[in-house]
Amino acid sequence: MKQITFLLIAVATLVGVVAFTAPASRAANEGAPAIFVTKIPSGYRDWKLISVAHEEGNLNSFAAVLGNDVAIKAYREGKLPYPDGTIIAALHYGHVSSEENNKVFGRSQSFVPGAPTNIQFMVKDSKKYSTTGGWGFGHFKDGKPGDEALMNTCFPCHNQGKARDLVFTRYAP
Ligand code: HEC
Repeated sequence: MKQITFLLIAVATLVGVVAFTAPASRAANEGAPAIFVTKIPSGYRDWKLISVAHEEGNLNSFAAVLGNDVAIKAYREGKLPYPDGTIIAALHYGHVSSEENNKVFGRSQSFVPGAPTNIQFMVKDSKKYSTTGGWGFGHFKDGKPGDEALMNTCFPCHNQGKARDLVFTRYAP
């Protein structure tokens, strides 16, 4: 009898401990970093051009948007959603006035890419990145991945482009 009482107390204690800690660990899981792309996909600099973009405001940048073969094929075929294996890269540069080119033109009209600022990637893997629309987001500055606070901004904004599988850039033939 004593043993059973002890066992019951032990079980009750255990249940109590589990009940007490479960919400805490659930909260910890929710706050845990989603899976981001932490390694620069190899060969990206030789991929084909999808299009370019220029941002003003705080960014004041040029972007060259490149795609691997899977991405280019999907773009050309107008395939949505993008298949697993798709990788899209956005190479960002400063947006600077070119004195050298302006001299040639005889007026102030030339803007060229300045120093590279960062490289961003979207990697499609519908299983691995299922919590972020099937896309893994990557950001690299001087080869180093972006911090968690920055990485948490990617999906919510790109998710506004749900109709085009979270990809904003259109293919420029
Ligand atoms: C406030 C909204 C917003 C946030 C936050 C954002 N993006 Fe984007 N992203 C865009 C828009 C809009 C474009 C289209 C091209 C442009 O205007 O530069 C784009 C383009 C891209 C592209 C090229 C493919 C495409 O969808 O056009 C990649 C890759 C990319 N972003 C990755 C990222 C990563 C990685 C992060 C997080 C570090 C991120 N983005 C954060 C809005 C956002």
